[in-house]
Amino acid sequence: MKVVERIDDLRHLLDDARAEAWATRHPQTPSTAVVGFVPTMGFFHEGHRSLMRAAAAAHDVVAVSLFVNPIQFGANEDLSGYPRDLERDIAVCEAEGVDFLFAPSVDEMYPGGAPLTGVAVADLSEGLCGVGRPTHFGGVATVVTKLFSIVGPCTAYFGRKDFQQLAVIRRLAADLSLAVDVVGCPLVREADGVAMSSRNSYLNDRERDAATVLFRSLRAGVAEVEAGERDPATLRRVVANVITAEQRVRLEYAEVLDADDLSSVETLAGDIVVAVAARVGPARLIDNVTLHVEGDAVTADLGVIAGSDEE
Ligand code: PAJ
Repeated sequence: MKVVERIDDLRHLLDDARAEAWATRHPQTPSTAVVGFVPTMGFFHEGHRSLMRAAAAAHDVVAVSLFVNPIQFGANEDLSGYPRDLERDIAVCEAEGVDFLFAPSVDEMYPGGAPLTGVAVADLSEGLCGVGRPTHFGGVATVVTKLFSIVGPCTAYFGRKDFQQLAVIRRLAADLSLAVDVVGCPLVREADGVAMSSRNSYLNDRERDAATVLFRSLRAGVAEVEAGERDPATLRRVVANVITAEQRVRLEYAEVLDADDLSSVETLAGDIVVAVAARVGPARLIDNVTLHVEGDAVTADLGVIAGSDEE
């Protein structure tokens, strides 16, 4: 595996890899087929690894980016404390069959300081996490567009853990006709149901116990819908009440929305996302489940437990 720090070096390496693959491929191979790309901020866990594995299974070449992107952190957020361990991350990428780990400096990505050009995805960026983090998705959309421009035609893998982020990125790739196929992958959980996150490292033992309430609240919501509830406001209340009952946790939001465009719904039908965010000690955690509701039939996607056969 090569660790690449320069934008131009990565461009050359991936152009060469694409040219080599196309030389031996059917001429109609889509331009996005050769390179699988996984954008990250590092401190890898099983959620990241599942994306690397999905990319490695489907593409000739796997590129991972590791960049703690300053412009997606608000002024009072955890940019300086964000966990980092480059040596370990390199070893993880090697074990997962990654070919290129792109780990640029802030100066390489933003040589003139924060960019004057920004990508904004209206509507989708405004609700849910956009309320408490009004500049976050602009920073994400801008860096991801920049990474897509550096990597070139590819299939890019994102986790459904960050459900709103995935919706924002799908939309920006479509709106800007980028040569990128965006693939959403299952949310990966710890054995006790807590969604894996680099930010779980901020929690002490008691906070880590309390953090299970996010998943418990979502399970309670799913049970309610399976028992016949079809009113989004009631479902929202059931989920919020589970979280507010846990003293160590401060609810930020519990929302029930259309899973495709994140708009509000009058009744529970079709594809629905139940999304929650809460503060647990120093960490802000998010979680979600998706539901497919068709008459009496309810299918819930709760994600997968790390290491289980389903993954
Ligand atoms: P980061 O938080 O490092 O996440 C990188 C990718 O891993 C994202 O697609 C995220 O959804 C996925 N991921 C994180 N935890 C997961 C879990 N428990 N299960 C499944 N997938 C999981 O998301 C970012 O970085 C940044 O915002 C980025 C897109 C790289 C832009 O800077």
